[in-house]
Amino acid sequence: MASLLPTTTPTFPSHFTSSKKPSQILIHGNFKKNNNARHLPIRCTNNNNNNINNNNNPQSSVETLLRKLDRRDILLGLGGFYGAAANIGSSIADTVGTGEPIPYPDLTKCTTAYIQYDPTGQKENVEVPYTCCPPTPTTEIKPYKLPEPSVMRVRPAAHLVDDRYIEKYMKAVQAMKDLPESDPRNFKQQANIHCVYCNFGYPTGVTGDDGNEIRLQVHHSWLFYPFHRWYLYFYERILGKLIDDPTFALPFWNWDTPCGMTMPHMFTTKNSPLDPDNASKPNPLYNEKRNEAHYPPAILDLGLDLSGSKVVTSDIHKVCNNLALVYRSVVNNGFDAVGALGGPYYYGSDLKSDGSLELLHNMAHIFVGKPANKTGNPPTYGEDMGNLYSAGKEPLFYCHHGNVDRMWRIWQDLGGKNFNNKAWLDSQFFFYDEDANPVYVTVKDCLDEKKMGYTYQPVTLPWRLAKPVPKTIKSDVGTTSTSPSVATVFPATLDKVVKALVQRPQISRTEGQKKKKQEILVIDGIQLPLGEFVKFDIFINDDDEKGANLSKAEFAGTFTSLPHGATTSSGHASSTTSFRIGLNEILEDLLCEGDEKIQVTLIPKAGCEMVTVDYIKVDFA
Ligand code: C2O
Repeated sequence: MASLLPTTTPTFPSHFTSSKKPSQILIHGNFKKNNNARHLPIRCTNNNNNNINNNNNPQSSVETLLRKLDRRDILLGLGGFYGAAANIGSSIADTVGTGEPIPYPDLTKCTTAYIQYDPTGQKENVEVPYTCCPPTPTTEIKPYKLPEPSVMRVRPAAHLVDDRYIEKYMKAVQAMKDLPESDPRNFKQQANIHCVYCNFGYPTGVTGDDGNEIRLQVHHSWLFYPFHRWYLYFYERILGKLIDDPTFALPFWNWDTPCGMTMPHMFTTKNSPLDPDNASKPNPLYNEKRNEAHYPPAILDLGLDLSGSKVVTSDIHKVCNNLALVYRSVVNNGFDAVGALGGPYYYGSDLKSDGSLELLHNMAHIFVGKPANKTGNPPTYGEDMGNLYSAGKEPLFYCHHGNVDRMWRIWQDLGGKNFNNKAWLDSQFFFYDEDANPVYVTVKDCLDEKKMGYTYQPVTLPWRLAKPVPKTIKSDVGTTSTSPSVATVFPATLDKVVKALVQRPQISRTEGQKKKKQEILVIDGIQLPLGEFVKFDIFINDDDEKGANLSKAEFAGTFTSLPHGATTSSGHASSTTSFRIGLNEILEDLLCEGDEKIQVTLIPKAGCEMVTVDYIKVDFA
């Protein structure tokens, strides 16, 4: 069998990294219209006659208003986007450095994945109680060739599907669960794909700085989007195959629109949502390991605050916070590929930074999973959705990731440019296809989802109108603040609110300068404890220390981290990362482009007692 598997590191040409700067600076007139924004009216109710290709008429005055606003956004809102979006896709050649692509793993080396791993011995090591390794291939692992798409699979918004769709979807997932467990297409095997790739089950054969072998990880870097796209691609094709429907498309959890901000109904009933009183019809989309307090009508809380007194309780407030955070994550902090999609991750290198869209997505994981209780009997770790090792066991995971994948598309529609770095394009993953053939895939083949045979139902994007509200009167916080400087405050532990004045290297930049380079706030050397859910928010020129309102211009971004079993290489007790915030538009909206300093406040929201930050600074990218 070994001959079928890579025994050595594939060699790649070393001259691939281009030093040429892409000149993809977008100007107002070039800004692409977002097609997704125009078609469907907002509807909060399920409609059995709903056809996803059907443009229904608005049903209420609210909808009419939203539609109008949406058109206004297309016509006028672009001007509002211009300051920030002009920099989406600016040059990143300097930021990503060079390195080799990551080859698909050597399956013969697959080992135990850990829920909790602490080489310092301070905490007990907890293994995943079953193997996450895939079945050993019995045929050669071949490069995967995208089939010519004969039909387009249209992924629908989960809150808008009809009963026929739900029936079909339940049938497909049930069939997947009914496959023999040894079949790589079986539901548990599909869940294991996530576990092994996400909880460090694959050693890379490269020794890290700490003397331990570096293990593969597909979160916290530029592999996050491509990996999950391929993962869903095969999951969807397997489901379609099992019900003999080549048009079958996964639903997406449309949590970026108010009507989609609860867990989609079809996942939340124990019995079939089409026949809830009939106990003989269990719902294969249901999962017990969830936070039941978060079932509908509970609204997803992307702005979640677990730090005690500051809890946001009203639904409308949550909706507003959610929309503002989506706006910040996509438009401002997704100002370039590193910002949106994550930092570079080369063969044998360490992880560097999570993209803003990955940080955002973590929140739905935490919302769905049962809160961890590590001292309970038995101890729990946020299963299923709230911990990466178990997240794939949650049927809703794939629906959530449909939306995450859709966000990648929307970011591109708004002008975001993917990496053109060869190491990214040539990185590989291993999967079984819908016929259970072992294949390896490359990142470059997944950049256009239409070529992969699927697309998303177009729905409105209300968050494009939810830009945190610009100031009309300039606050004097930046000029009169008596907060200490960065050098006095950092390194700092986030066990409390941390505030510092940060010097800006340049003030009052011209439009031309702003288009060329994004002014960024770098939060570097963020040291995270293992196995904890961590969240802190960043505000600029704001004296409020609660940070409950994300809809105001002072709100700059959110950093989050999901519990994971081990770290970047196998040996640390914590992991270090960084976060970059796109400041161009935020400083304009705060009317403080002429100030020499900004006051930055880091507000801990969850799990921050052990989190430290080395320094923060203003820079350009
Ligand atoms: Cu692999 Cu949402 O995580």
